[in-house]
Amino acid sequence: MVSLTFSDVTKRFGGRTVIEGLSATLAGGTVTAVTGANGSGKSTLLKMAAKLLLPDAGKIVARDGEQELCKASYRSRLAIVTPEFHAYPKLTARENLDFFLSFRRAEALSDALYEQLLERVGLAPGAVDGKMVEQFSTGMKKRLHFAILLASEADVWLLDEPGANLDAVGRSMVRREARLAADGGKLVLLATNDREEEAEADACISLSGR
Ligand SMILES: Nc1ncnc2c1ncn2[C@@H]1O[C@H](COP(=O)(O)OP(=O)(O)OP(=O)(O)O)[C@@H](O)[C@H]1O
Ligand SMILES: [Mg+2]
Repeated sequence: MVSLTFSDVTKRFGGRTVIEGLSATLAGGTVTAVTGANGSGKSTLLKMAAKLLLPDAGKIVARDGEQELCKASYRSRLAIVTPEFHAYPKLTARENLDFFLSFRRAEALSDALYEQLLERVGLAPGAVDGKMVEQFSTGMKKRLHFAILLASEADVWLLDEPGANLDAVGRSMVRREARLAADGGKLVLLATNDREEEAEADACISLSGR
């Protein structure tokens, strides 16, 4: 299983300290919630966890068991859900899935798996088939992003406000899938202000904001 260790991590932007001296170990098989007010550094923490941003001090080390993972192999094993993601608007759900998953999966998506994914994320085939993503509602696009995540076979899930723009059924899908992923040995890190997502996590990193 993959683990991620933050050792005394500090992040500053323009001389302003956003995260100071954070130490934590995130283990495969668990869900960790990152909480804190707007601007407290949740998304920054996730970007550092994805190795898209470097800390100004301290270290973040990914391991598979005891073995340290290099950046490239760690990256190949992680998937990110952020509000910034945009599926291709002129492609259908299926075409977007085929496109994004072509980088991630050894095998093409079968019709059966496609149907199963739609069901898991609560997208009715009748509502999406034959439609371009630009015709989807915001929540439908978010659910499609989750379908990409579920099929990605990533070992590390970094979810930035995964319940945002989802209705109550969608948010419970997020909590259910995060738990299933952790039960399957995945490392799940989610930034959230959703009380239920926080309550159902195994561990919590609370950022105070500076
Ligand atoms: N690229 C950047 N350059 C300068 N400052 C940044 C940058 N990214 C984030 N910040 C600042 O760092 C702080 C933390 O931002 P971040 O997006 O991590 O907060 P957040 O906890 O995710 O907030 P929200 O709940 O609103 O999503 C904010 O003050 C923000 O202005
Ligand atoms: Mg954020």
